[in-house]
Amino acid sequence: MPPHDQLPQIGGHPGRSARTCALKCGNACAHPAPNTSDTDYIGDIIQTAVSRRMVLRGGLSALVIGALWPGAGTLTPTPAAAAPGGRPGRPGPFSDSGTGLHFPPIAPTDKAVDAVVVADGYANNIVIRWGDPVVPGAGPIDYANQTGETQAGQFGYNCDYVGFFALGGGRGPGASRHGLIVVNHEYTIPELMFPGYVPGSPTLEQVNAELAAHGLTVVELRRERGATGGFVFVPGSGFNRRITATTPMLLTGPAAGDELLRTSADPTGTRVLGTLNNCAGGNTPWGTVLSAEENFHQYFANLAASDPEHQVVHRRYGLPSGPSERRWEQFYDRFDLAKEPHEPFRFGWIVEIDPTDPEFVPRKRTALGRFKHEAATVHVAPDGRVVAYSGDDERFDYVYKYVSHNRYRQGDKAHNLTLLDDGDLYVARFDGDSPPAELERYNDPATLGLLPEDGEFDGTGTWLPLVVDSRSQVPGFTVAEVLIKTRLAADAVGATKMDRPEDVERNPVDGRVYMCMTNNTRRGVGTNPGIDEANPRRVDETGAATGNKYGHVVELAEDGDDGTATTFSWRLFLVCGDPEDPTTYFAGYPKEGVSPVAAPDNLAFDSHGNVWIATDGQPGTIGKADAFHAVPMEGPERGRVRQFLSVPAGAEACGPEFTPDERTLFCAVQHPGDGEASSWPDGPGNPPRPSVISVYKVHGNKRIGT
Ligand code: FEO
Ligand code: CA
Ligand code: CA
Repeated sequence: MPPHDQLPQIGGHPGRSARTCALKCGNACAHPAPNTSDTDYIGDIIQTAVSRRMVLRGGLSALVIGALWPGAGTLTPTPAAAAPGGRPGRPGPFSDSGTGLHFPPIAPTDKAVDAVVVADGYANNIVIRWGDPVVPGAGPIDYANQTGETQAGQFGYNCDYVGFFALGGGRGPGASRHGLIVVNHEYTIPELMFPGYVPGSPTLEQVNAELAAHGLTVVELRRERGATGGFVFVPGSGFNRRITATTPMLLTGPAAGDELLRTSADPTGTRVLGTLNNCAGGNTPWGTVLSAEENFHQYFANLAASDPEHQVVHRRYGLPSGPSERRWEQFYDRFDLAKEPHEPFRFGWIVEIDPTDPEFVPRKRTALGRFKHEAATVHVAPDGRVVAYSGDDERFDYVYKYVSHNRYRQGDKAHNLTLLDDGDLYVARFDGDSPPAELERYNDPATLGLLPEDGEFDGTGTWLPLVVDSRSQVPGFTVAEVLIKTRLAADAVGATKMDRPEDVERNPVDGRVYMCMTNNTRRGVGTNPGIDEANPRRVDETGAATGNKYGHVVELAEDGDDGTATTFSWRLFLVCGDPEDPTTYFAGYPKEGVSPVAAPDNLAFDSHGNVWIATDGQPGTIGKADAFHAVPMEGPERGRVRQFLSVPAGAEACGPEFTPDERTLFCAVQHPGDGEASSWPDGPGNPPRPSVISVYKVHGNKRIGT
């Protein structure tokens, strides 16, 4: 008997079924936001002061903005950006060859359609599915008899991040024919994995299979012979590897060995079994992948039984008081805080892996801080230091930046593998330039959607230091405490509470940094924080304003186009939703010409500098299937959102990732069957299987987007 084909959609959770909310993020949205820190007062003072200054300087600011808008390309007069294919982080000329986007957008797809839909002229194929045998000797999936052992040789569940690594080197055509993909497996949905699964009462074999279905897969791919861009995987390749929730890995960097990281199984505080809830990630310039541990809190039970001092920290990270959803603690003491109170401190990190070395021991990089990392994306700054951005995906949490102490050395992987162990950590504060009354007016039912008088949501910002030159910048916190209790350290310095920061990524073409705020329908409700210019949507008692149900995208320009800068300017690039919603904003592009877009999550950039946005939550917000959208950043089409594909019933669209020649676009189809019936990709009678697809142009060996 196969497992079920869907999880029921039950009200109360924006965008997802109740069970998926429980299993994906531990029902984060149903609980009060864990950030109860009181930093609004400081923020209000700053905002009021800045707004007053801007009112006084109104004539000048209007002139400057008028000169830059629309689509003039910079927030500040920055140097020209890097050319496609240029060295990372090095300035180069802007492309003037247009957007390179010529495909006709697809109509938004009904959320019940159980198929991948791609733009006219494109096709897709399944690259790999949950349960496909990956490592040498692995067997095929057997739904009724999955074990930890069998699953550990097969592709894991709920694929999210996809990173492509060309094998053979170079940037020529060969670099795009043959490579590895690294895929994150964020979480498991046992009801869809195992026939007869009983929530709250799993068997040991089911738990073991779940542990093995987490983590990552590295798998070798080849472009199909004679085809135009589709890939297939190479079963049993020596590169193929599964990393799971039990794979030995190291904790490295300044917090490694700290007392809080020691457990009865690991008195050194440096050795961990496994990685959990790996959401998105990033490829480094030195050929490794960074995988982000996101909603790690949900795997740990019995917070209430732990030390009161630890409880303060664990509560800030949202750990459950009683049993966990998956009940792994019934079989493994390390998931029970009553028995192993430090184990959760060993999760919530960025994990670095070298996919070309099957023996590489994954390393959790403590210097990047501990929170619900959505991803971490790296670029090389003009002076050679490396910069990593990372969002903390929780309502009212923060955006962070890491700057390495040492410099990147091209071709020296051993050296570059030390760059994420020694550096400075910052958290972002966003200061708006429009008066609070104008933000209120935008949410007022009588004037809903009215933009601030300067025409946009924008301002300046500061990277607030948490650790600099190996010294804590937070009173009362050691360096190790800043890195382990990062959320509390960031609370103490007055960072800006954002609407669930997801992917944060630098556009290599224009040098600007884009960050997705996926949604937040609690801003302004009860004791939750109110609006600020970087998060301008709130809930209105009349119901006219529904809060930030659809999310937004922030555009940030580091001062001097230098990722190591501690100040920046910013503006909202998109305020998402159905274009008929008056609160939407598409960088000023006429609303009748854009595709609806909601819950922006992950980002990729093509060589024209267009952004490709993957969504997670369109079914529950705009009633449409999740999607990839392409959006130009420059010229008259700046802000024109065009839908490129949609994913099957109930699924979230993850990735996106291009091959170097941009003839293939990978998409990870995560949790098909969430709230909608799905038998994708195997067809009627089969359970849904999270899978990676590759999308390519049918004729002409052309770039995606043409
Ligand atoms: Fe796993 Fe923030 O999405
Ligand atoms: Ca403004
Ligand atoms: Ca995500």
